Amino acid sequence: MKYILDRAYARELLDHANQLNPVPWYKHSLNVAKAAEYIVIELTKKGLNLDCDIAYNAGLLHDIGRYKGFTKSVIHSYDGYKFMDELGYQGNAIICVTHSFPCEHNNIETSSEWDLVPSYMKDELVGILNKNGSYDFYNKVITLCDALADENGFTTLEKRFISVGLRHGTNLYTSIRWKGFYEIKEEIELLIGKSIYSLPPGIEKTIYAKMEY
Ligand SMILES: [Fe+2]
Repeated sequence: MKYILDRAYARELLDHANQLNPVPWYKHSLNVAKAAEYIVIELTKKGLNLDCDIAYNAGLLHDIGRYKGFTKSVIHSYDGYKFMDELGYQGNAIICVTHSFPCEHNNIETSSEWDLVPSYMKDELVGILNKNGSYDFYNKVITLCDALADENGFTTLEKRFISVGLRHGTNLYTSIRWKGFYEIKEEIELLIGKSIYSLPPGIEKTIYAKMEY
């Protein structure tokens, strides 16, 4: 699986995408990258064979599909997949999709605004998830960090879930989706032997911060 290893190149791609669609997802992406690096450093200390540059760049580029504009649905995941796949980075392309599906290939309908996704796109997304199989740690870490970082920095999953829910609404499947994130969080915390909230600096300040809605 090929990933972007060069941080300068990944940043160049992100900066260009931000010029096309300059919204808060840019700062969010920078923070997801930083959070991913903090977690992967801990995982490598425990003996897992992971590369910090891969994780950091995957965090930078997970929402690259937003270059096309804002969509509530997972259409940005599809656009990101196509973009990264055409560049030849299949590993990054898959993470553009997997981060939107915390329950892996189960409960795919839990993704927000799934009904807005055209059927040909749904078929391709389901095909990508099924072909990819179980998530590896890069997929898991970026999925988790997507919920751990916003445009202002790092936050708790609970605060991010409520903020996203207030802005975009919830549906019948929201709790199933949340459980997907908590399962990843628990698996990683068991491995690193500490709370993920102890890793990114200043995360405790989030309890005093104004809720975005
Ligand atoms: Fe994201």
